[in-house]
Amino acid sequence: MKNDSSLPPVRPHEAIVALDVPSAREAAAAVAKIGDAVSFYKVGLELFVADGPETLKMLRDEGKRVFLDLKLHDIPRTVERAVASCLSLGADLLTVHAQGSSAMVAGAARAVAEAGSDTKILAVTLLTSLDETDLAKLGIARSPEEEVVALGRLATGAGAHGLVCSPREAAALRAALGPDAILVTPGVRPAGGDVGDQKRVATPADAIRAGATHLVVGRPVLCAPDPRAAALAIRAEMDAAI
Ligand code: C5P
Repeated sequence: MKNDSSLPPVRPHEAIVALDVPSAREAAAAVAKIGDAVSFYKVGLELFVADGPETLKMLRDEGKRVFLDLKLHDIPRTVERAVASCLSLGADLLTVHAQGSSAMVAGAARAVAEAGSDTKILAVTLLTSLDETDLAKLGIARSPEEEVVALGRLATGAGAHGLVCSPREAAALRAALGPDAILVTPGVRPAGGDVGDQKRVATPADAIRAGATHLVVGRPVLCAPDPRAAALAIRAEMDAAI
């Protein structure tokens, strides 16, 4: 079945606000508060499990683009079928974990191709909440940068349209993969901002200079006293760096 959402092509250099809230009602309130300062939103597991399809419909009705961040990670057949099930929701971007193997990423890409969908598959390389110590505990001897580049090559070789990485590894990935890859970076914090549980962070300007195409920002916008002003400030910092 062709995805009927007729998605426009994904443009470079956009700020994506992570709607890390527990309900469609709260998501709609945040989107209304931010207004035209943001046109791209990320829906993650918390919101998707509670009110996923309703939230995606609300965002599309508002004319917003959608990054569906489900970080799928399972056997290849299960991920392929899960991706196929997601396509009718009309997301512009959908995540799977690169660590699920090239066969799993290829299954995700195949589901999109067979449906003739415009949804782009992004492979998450390493979560931005992990650092070298966490990798060592997982038995991974490579540095985060080496691991991210290896996973990035694996995922794009298997058909992923783009990658999710920390801004700190964006330059290495850009050098490894060339100018066309979509590189989406969470772990973005305005200078002096609260880092929270993120470990590999950078400012919006640094992320753009490192080669990121899309920046994901959650708490620095949603938890700001004036979310719209916070989003506009991040956009201005990105524009100055482009
Ligand atoms: O609030 P904050 O800006 O830290 O939110 C970052 C968002 O990006 C969260 O929704 C998180 O799930 C997501 N994310 C991440 N690291 C990744 C992939 C996604 O932090 N590697």
